[in-house]
Amino acid sequence: MNQPAIKAQVTPAMDSPSYVTHAKLLAWVAETAQLTKPERIVWCDGSQEEYDRLCNEMVAAGTLIRLNQEKRPGCFLARSDPDDVARMEDRTFVCSKNKDDAGPNNNWLPPEEMKATMRKLYDGCMRGRTMYVIPFSMGPLGSHIAHIGVELTDSPYVVVSMRIMTRIGRKVLDILGDKGEFVPCLHSVGMPLAAGQNDIPWPSNKEHKFITHFPEEKLIWSFGSGYGGNALLGKKCFALRIASIMAKEQGWLAEHMLILGIEPPGGKKHYIAAAFPSACGKTNLAMLIPPKVLEGWKVTTIGEDIAWIKPGPDGRLYAINPEYGAFGVAPGTSEETNANCLAALKKNTIFTNVAMTDDGDVWWEGLSKEAPKHLTDWTGKSWTPDSGRLAAHPNSRFTVLASQIPSMDPDWENPAGVPISAFLFGGRRTTIVPLVTEAKDWNHGVYLAATMASETTAAIVGKVGVVRRDPFAMLPFCGYHFGDYFKHWLSVGAKVKVPPKIFAVNWFRRDAKGKFMWPGFGDNMRVLKWVVERCEGKSGATETPIGNMPRYEDMEWQGMTGFNRENFDTLTHVDHDAWRAELKGHDELFEQLKSRLPAEMTKQRQGLEKAL
Ligand code: GTP
Ligand code: SPV
Ligand code: MN
Repeated sequence: MNQPAIKAQVTPAMDSPSYVTHAKLLAWVAETAQLTKPERIVWCDGSQEEYDRLCNEMVAAGTLIRLNQEKRPGCFLARSDPDDVARMEDRTFVCSKNKDDAGPNNNWLPPEEMKATMRKLYDGCMRGRTMYVIPFSMGPLGSHIAHIGVELTDSPYVVVSMRIMTRIGRKVLDILGDKGEFVPCLHSVGMPLAAGQNDIPWPSNKEHKFITHFPEEKLIWSFGSGYGGNALLGKKCFALRIASIMAKEQGWLAEHMLILGIEPPGGKKHYIAAAFPSACGKTNLAMLIPPKVLEGWKVTTIGEDIAWIKPGPDGRLYAINPEYGAFGVAPGTSEETNANCLAALKKNTIFTNVAMTDDGDVWWEGLSKEAPKHLTDWTGKSWTPDSGRLAAHPNSRFTVLASQIPSMDPDWENPAGVPISAFLFGGRRTTIVPLVTEAKDWNHGVYLAATMASETTAAIVGKVGVVRRDPFAMLPFCGYHFGDYFKHWLSVGAKVKVPPKIFAVNWFRRDAKGKFMWPGFGDNMRVLKWVVERCEGKSGATETPIGNMPRYEDMEWQGMTGFNRENFDTLTHVDHDAWRAELKGHDELFEQLKSRLPAEMTKQRQGLEKAL
């Protein structure tokens, strides 16, 4: 299946194409090349030819495996180093000048100390490799909500992934002109090649890994990892950590949220933005297919991981999806759970760390009820159903163009964004947290979001299933002190004329046997319907100490099997004792943040205690 490598168009080390006229960019590229000492520099133009050439080179190098081209045209499989499979929160730093600005929610080192350490690592780190220059736009080209970045990387896997995840190439430089602002993003896998040394399929640095942000300079330095959010620097590093800082300074919001459109039968279309922690259901919810009884409700996708939200001239909040593709969790994706997503993955997709069938197709846990009799697992080893281990890594992912997702909204690239009617906040909570709660008002909603918690998942390196506070699903992504972040959210609500309604949701309650009590996926539409009706003042609710909740009769239950009124009562019951214990968790969070915690948060907390 291998094709011969086509030689890259080589630009001599310090030369740049004549069309690059941005002095600051040229100087930064030259300076970085002097430090990292690549063999050559390639300025990415973003063309299909360039993408194909790099894929062919990676197939020849063993980094990519070309999948069965009849079953998966244009698709590839990458297998990462087994030690480089997810984001690493303990290696992620926000190096603000003042430690307090980064807050207890971020790892911190003095910027000069971090830079000195990393400069040593960067010195000569691209020897024997190509340094790629990737100009990229987060958001539709030229949108007033969009921002530009440039990533320098020695990983061709990053280049082809960035071409799917962001808008890259010459067209971005055209917008940048010779003085435009950009966020410099430096990335190296941290494995220089000595003369004559053979490369390996997934180079990384076993000893040193750093994902570092310098807020005052709006600068990103990443070293040692080639995986996902550690390496595709437009995503978590720029569009969330650095952008959250820009957003606070400039009066907007950068959030870990999906954006979806809902059009009731014969009614007015609404847009909802929803925050869930990593691997907690954003991609699935964004592409939801309603159950039969609600078929008349049309659901469309604007984004599935990140939202940039700015106040519009009419006093509403407008959101764009800054990304161009999806880097989504493969396990659990199936015809039943997410048919839209599965349809998108039929072609031109890069799969990472999934299993491969004997005929060169992909497989992962949950794709089919029964596993194939034989597979090659994500590490390249032979696998059978009784191997006693997973075939695909639990954080295996697909990288696919958003334009291939059948449910994309006609306005998903609208540079003005779409108006948001409601915000949803959800986590993975086995107990206590009810199916859905409507906040009494904006400030109460900020409290609900600030105090949410969730179980950790395989999206981060570390222990899975540990409940931790994850305010706004932004714990790993807020680039500054959470106290200031809560204050910013309170101020946005006070400023906009028509603040969206805020809801907390939980799809993940389990019974004593560990079984999910809510069917989830398409049936989440029943909750979304109630949310939209609340936005329109059409549906009823009952008041509880923690917020408003639907009564059984406020929701659509037709066609729902294996779920009755009793189940509903369990999922919406407010256990006062359990909530008083939950309050202790809120207190612990607030204690950590107290130097910058807005008084409003303490007020909300006292109100909740009283109500209980
Ligand atoms: P990131 O890309 O890491 O930010 O994650 P995401 O929030 O987009 O996660 P995704 O939608 O890919 O969710 C991944 C996991 O959540 C899979 O294991 C899904 O099966 C599971 N999941 C999604 N929706 C539901 C649901 O409604 N109910 C249940 N029980 N599981 C769900
Ligand atoms: C997440 O972890 O929330 C992701 C995947 O969306 S990564 O891009 O690796 O951060
Ligand atoms: Mn995410």
